[in-house]
Amino acid sequence: MDSADQFRFTHIPHPAPVSVAQRAELLANPGFGRVFTDHMAVIRYKEGQGWHNPTIEARAPIALDPAAAVLHYAQEIFEGMKAYRAADGGVVMFRPDANARRFHQSAERMAMAPLPDALFLEAVRELVKVDRDWIPSGESASLYLRPFMIANEAFLGVKPSAEYLFIVIASPVGAYFSGGAVSVWVSEDYTRAAPGGTGAAKCGGNYAASLLAQREAKAQNCDQVLFLDAAEHRWIEEMGGMNIFFVMKDGTLVTPPLGGTILPGITRDALLTLARDKGLTVREERYSIEQCYEDAASGRLVEAFACGTAAVVTSIGRFRGQRGEIVIGAGNGADPVTEGLRDALIGIQRGQRPDPYGWVQ
Ligand code: COI
Repeated sequence: MDSADQFRFTHIPHPAPVSVAQRAELLANPGFGRVFTDHMAVIRYKEGQGWHNPTIEARAPIALDPAAAVLHYAQEIFEGMKAYRAADGGVVMFRPDANARRFHQSAERMAMAPLPDALFLEAVRELVKVDRDWIPSGESASLYLRPFMIANEAFLGVKPSAEYLFIVIASPVGAYFSGGAVSVWVSEDYTRAAPGGTGAAKCGGNYAASLLAQREAKAQNCDQVLFLDAAEHRWIEEMGGMNIFFVMKDGTLVTPPLGGTILPGITRDALLTLARDKGLTVREERYSIEQCYEDAASGRLVEAFACGTAAVVTSIGRFRGQRGEIVIGAGNGADPVTEGLRDALIGIQRGQRPDPYGWVQ
């Protein structure tokens, strides 16, 4: 297949798209991740053939051989990104090129066939174009895009698969958290990723590894789990599905450094830039859980927040764990630095503020 054909998507007409009235009902209150659009983008890979047959087709269950490698050895990666209805009625995406790059890096870490960045972007754009009527409007509403790739060679030997399936699905969403500040359970028994492992890749296995600790968080009446490093069980790393920042009384922002065990969040990266450009001091440095508890007690730590594509920027009201409970600031999400960063980010994402960074595409 020549490279021009590789980018030509075949559109297979949907036999029974959702009616306009039904769609309006679904968009009124979509929640997160339960409502899906009519279509999906699909591209296949086979060793010797490369990436081929890009299609936009009706979203439907996929047939997999029970011996498909993903079902046994978890060779799988994904991305999370959003399309927005902009203030002028147009459709925009936030840093899709960064998602394409990270997807490529995740593929390399998981020994999967990397999808060319341009093909990733074309698949996402084609899907958003065909399902643009599914983009909800409203404050915290957007179309969440979930590109993913699975190993689908039917073979039980342990080796990188010779076949892959790349799919993009889309889900109209509201806020990930239902409102206010979230509570965080500090997991001291379980860790998410070890040095040399897959922590920096966006692979399903990292999320599977977080689920028992996340269940423990729920049992402790907390919204999210916070993981510490695997070597010393001391340094704060990241939460179940989002990065973390701390705000000190003198206005300094602290976030754990990327070192291979933390997901290089695109929202995290954008916030580092926005904070620096606001004149805040930003430190990407290790921050221990003891220090966090000490700083909360002394009043040095005044705000903390979670960030990610799904979470956007969400205040953390309290931490709970084996060391007891600490309340951050007022504990109710009234956090001026966090709010300022959230407004700056959302303003750019929705085309309500100038975008000097070229992030909105
Ligand atoms: C995202 O923020 O896009 C993620 O993949 C995290 C998950 C909690 C939905």
